[in-house]
Amino acid sequence: MKKGLLLLTCLVLLVAGGALTYRYLRSHGFSARVEPHPIEEAFALTVRKLVTPRKFLEMKNPLPASPVYIAEARNHYADHCAVCHDVDGSGETKVSKGLYPPAPDLASKRTQELSDGEIFYIIREGIRFSGMPGFGGEDKENWKLVQFIRHIPKLSSEELEMIKAAMPRAGKD
Ligand code: HEC
Repeated sequence: MKKGLLLLTCLVLLVAGGALTYRYLRSHGFSARVEPHPIEEAFALTVRKLVTPRKFLEMKNPLPASPVYIAEARNHYADHCAVCHDVDGSGETKVSKGLYPPAPDLASKRTQELSDGEIFYIIREGIRFSGMPGFGGEDKENWKLVQFIRHIPKLSSEELEMIKAAMPRAGKD
């Protein structure tokens, strides 16, 4: 009897959830230019953490902190990342605003509270069902980028100018 009740409750929740999702999608269409609902964002981030291999969740950057690595990764960032993530990591670009979900602010708590290994894994593998590409690449270069992402909240105005100057033309508009 208890099992039957549990099954019925699950079924009711499933139908109600489906109906709510359908209503939400009907009212928003499939536009990628809307902000994801905070519940959807929280759900997506929880699922992402759950499926990130444990090894990466606990990994620390094996490279020693170095201004040379940060400078190298800055150019890499300007070339491959700023078109979506913007010069200062804010994600305030035309491309990002047209993505669902948009690129988050890399200086924010959301990104800075990710472990080094999580950031490394995201850069290497990308994020499925989003605009974030998996770049593959060499481990060392990816760890340099992790170091650069940690540095984003402290970028100086000179560094911002250097990123802007190193960006491919298409990303500057
Ligand atoms: C084509 C657009 C695009 C490019 C190019 C791009 N990203 Fe992203 N990135 C995104 C989007 C969109 C997200 C958000 C995905 C999500 O919320 O599921 C994201 C998420 C991330 C995150 C996770 C941040 C968080 O708080 O969840 C990191 C770290 C990141 N990108 C780093 C990079 C780096 C480093 C590069 C360049 C090597 C790069 N990205 C290039 C679109 C892009």
